[in-house]
Amino acid sequence: MTTQKFVTLQPTGDKLPLVGFGTARISKEDTEQVVYNAIMAGNRLIDGALAYVNEAEVGKGVRRAIADGIVKREELFIVGKLWNSFHEKQHVKPIFQMTLDNYGLDYIDLYLVHLPFAIEYVDPKGPFGLTNAKNELKLIKAPMHETWRELEALVDAGLIRNIGISNFNVQLTLDLLSYARIPPSVLEIEHHPYLQQRRLIKWVRSQGVQVIAYASFGNAVFEAVPQGTEHLKNLLEHPVIVDIAEKYQLSTGQVLLVWAISHQVVVIPKTVNVSRMKSNLDINHIRLDDDDQQKIDALEANARFNDFYANNYGFDFPIYD
Ligand SMILES: NC(=O)c1ccc[n+]([C@@H]2O[C@H](COP(=O)([O-])OP(=O)(O)OC[C@H]3O[C@@H](n4cnc5c(N)ncnc54)[C@H](OP(=O)(O)O)[C@@H]3O)[C@@H](O)[C@H]2O)c1
Repeated sequence: MTTQKFVTLQPTGDKLPLVGFGTARISKEDTEQVVYNAIMAGNRLIDGALAYVNEAEVGKGVRRAIADGIVKREELFIVGKLWNSFHEKQHVKPIFQMTLDNYGLDYIDLYLVHLPFAIEYVDPKGPFGLTNAKNELKLIKAPMHETWRELEALVDAGLIRNIGISNFNVQLTLDLLSYARIPPSVLEIEHHPYLQQRRLIKWVRSQGVQVIAYASFGNAVFEAVPQGTEHLKNLLEHPVIVDIAEKYQLSTGQVLLVWAISHQVVVIPKTVNVSRMKSNLDINHIRLDDDDQQKIDALEANARFNDFYANNYGFDFPIYD
């Protein structure tokens, strides 16, 4: 049986599992059963977002697992995200309510600002992305301090337990901390051996912010990679990772997850495969030798794959600069 480990969030003291489950890019048809299976496998942290266009199905899977007695609501940690089209203060509450209704829950555990820039309002029934129908990125003026006030009000109303940020850098986080009455509990970022973001992580941690990693397998799961990163070996097949996997009798995917949680970074791998759901979770008891951990640290390449620059989003917007 898998033993979960947790980190404690500030300011609430809530417990966040070190290993969770991501729900991006799971088809609408499959999502309910996949999420149900993920909870059956022992997952308690479910990372969702309006932009994944499967919130209602995530909610169905969660509620079925609760109804079947597999888990109690309070044992689950459910995450949602505010999409860029709804940062203006008048849109935050209604769009959050839509997420809550999609999930069919009374509250969620963590609500993140998905990305740190606002774009023009669209019909929340979707479809929506970063660009409009004409393939243009339409930025609007919606100050983050106004967005954050609305999120704080939702915490006050008991509808969200923790609020957080995603894809923010140090400067944006510093500014947010200057006005936040309720500070962010979490920063969710791309994180893998090729993009370790050590300075960002060290600093946000010093401010009491817990880091969640996405894309823990790095370039292995991207169909197209940005210019300048094509030379990097597929991380799941990298000789350093393969050797360590053989030594500890793990899969290469497990090695990458163990490496991250050993750095106290929470991981949320997505899989539709039940045996991977179990093996991705079954890592809390494993520790790599310092030497092996350092061999993986040495793979740092400052290579960001989920970038909005020189890649396939159709526009160049260097938000991480
Ligand atoms: N905040 C943000 O901006 C942001 C951005 C991206 C993602 N996210 C969140 O982070 C989650 C994870 O990111 P992601 O979905 O992009 O990628 P990921 O979880 O890093 O990778 C998913 C892919 O890896 C495969 N996989 C899963 N476990 C594996 C293992 N042990 N070995 C080898 N392959 C494995 C899966 O295939 P199978 O399904 O076939 O097993 C799937 O194709 C998302 O689901 C989402 O919740 C957040």
